[in-house]
Amino acid sequence: MRSLLEVDGISVSFDGFRAINNLSFNIGEAELRAVIGPNGAGKTTFMDIVTGKTRPDEGRVLWGEPSKSLLKMNEAQIARAGVGRKFQRPTVFEDQTVAANLTMALKANRNPFAVLGWRPSRGSAVRVAELAAEVGLADQLDRKSGELSHGQKQWLEIGMLLAQEPRLLLVDEPAAGMTLAEREQTTTLLRRLAETRAVVVVEHDMDFVRRLDCKVTVLHQGSVLAEGSLDHVTRNPDVIEVYLGR
Ligand SMILES: Nc1ncnc2c1ncn2[C@@H]1O[C@H](COP(=O)(O)OP(=O)(O)OP(=O)(O)O)[C@@H](O)[C@H]1O
Ligand SMILES: [Mg+2]
Repeated sequence: MRSLLEVDGISVSFDGFRAINNLSFNIGEAELRAVIGPNGAGKTTFMDIVTGKTRPDEGRVLWGEPSKSLLKMNEAQIARAGVGRKFQRPTVFEDQTVAANLTMALKANRNPFAVLGWRPSRGSAVRVAELAAEVGLADQLDRKSGELSHGQKQWLEIGMLLAQEPRLLLVDEPAAGMTLAEREQTTTLLRRLAETRAVVVVEHDMDFVRRLDCKVTVLHQGSVLAEGSLDHVTRNPDVIEVYLGR
């Protein structure tokens, strides 16, 4: 499979502590990947590097075809190039409706000429409805976002990210705070989204990872410890020792 993102031999140290240590990682154009590993393994720092929030001390981060270095771009440029990131805490506007939040996300779209002279149009209303349907909120468009459940807020934020049409979506610990039903719907959603884009999911919940049913990368001390199917990596004695056997 052709790689969309190619991370090659990156390292980063904070005050002499090597949080990422010669890490390499590839993901294809339409691929779902789970990233697991113990606390402090470097999972969030890895996402910080891909999104340009943290600069690695060494290594390469290549994007697209023909490939461009993400290390030469700032956070805004990387987002515009098609990298979307979902943070753990939803950042929706609680006193606005679902439709209004999605409309704002569309308005913030990357094309500067689209923003210039932008106003809500029939086209955008259709797109807002599509985005809501994509994340399972079609019947919630007129609800105040603050009234949504925690899981629904997370889906709304994913919908807002989709408004930017990312080619890679990075999602850090989505299952936290969700009910079992919400977690199940979230795995279904992420699997569907990965049919047309790359999706990287960091998660500790092993039932959630199992339901994602995808290739798994295990990080430990800033490096890849194991990679493959969930069954393959969970049989690995090193993975059992540092992560599963706790
Ligand atoms: N900006 C920073 N300054 C100093 N140390 C940092 C910084 N960011 C991360 N670290 C350290 O780097 C290591 C990796 O942290 P990171 O947050 O990436 O781990 P993680 O795998 O996401 O863990 P968790 O599962 O707990 O979220 C930790 O020891 C953390 O304290
Ligand atoms: Mg983390």
